[in-house]
Amino acid sequence: MKSETIKHFLYMKKITIAIDGFSSCGKSTMAKDLAKEIGYIYVDSGAMYRAVTLFAMQNGLFNEQGVDVDVLEDKIQDVHISFQLDAETQRPVTYLNNINVEQEIRGMEVSSRVSHIAALGFVRTAMVKLQQEMGQNKGIVMDGRDIGTTVFPDAELKIFVTASAEVRAQRRYDELKAKGQEASFESILENVKERDQLDMTREVSPLKQADDAILLDNSNLTIEEQKAWLKEQYEKAIQ
Ligand code: DC
Repeated sequence: MKSETIKHFLYMKKITIAIDGFSSCGKSTMAKDLAKEIGYIYVDSGAMYRAVTLFAMQNGLFNEQGVDVDVLEDKIQDVHISFQLDAETQRPVTYLNNINVEQEIRGMEVSSRVSHIAALGFVRTAMVKLQQEMGQNKGIVMDGRDIGTTVFPDAELKIFVTASAEVRAQRRYDELKAKGQEASFESILENVKERDQLDMTREVSPLKQADDAILLDNSNLTIEEQKAWLKEQYEKAIQ
């Protein structure tokens, strides 16, 4: 990085950026790209709920009735989640108890169970606390469902992203295929719709647009167009 650019970052006002919205609508791509461009920390809060889900799976806590809530609550203090930058891609990688779980938490096994875990009050309390600690010095872009409403209600810039369920299912399908993972479009679409429903109707911190969030429907936007739009919102917010 050039010294002029470094100076620019050092003297600029740091803000908190909350990007919420429906699953698979490209929130993390836009949040990651913006964070990289403006030198902010990026946190994928969904990855944290996914890591807790994987932890519950690893400990055999899922059964036909759902998840063994009491045992998970007892064990929640054994869940340590962190992010480290991959040296090669410069992208953050999710660690669960010091093990890289980035690939595993993106598969369908975790995706189909994560909404149940994200609906548990004690899980949310633990994750929100960790998220607030990560953002205490500002200069952070965090994406999720409740970032602008619960985690950082005072964030200077809040974006709420949406796109049609079909467009989102297609994006997730393409993503899994590109990684060489097995996928069926119908089951992904069903999973997307089911998660929308669970995310919007859960009792604790349901998915909902904050009153002061800017709405972005990106169904018909390219990644480049979306990137430019977000950068513009950031420029306005730091004025
Ligand atoms: O963004 P994602 O699809 O990786 O999120 C995984 C799940 O976690 C999804 O069901 C919604 C939930 N989630 C949440 O409840 N609150 C957040 N801040 C982030 C994700």
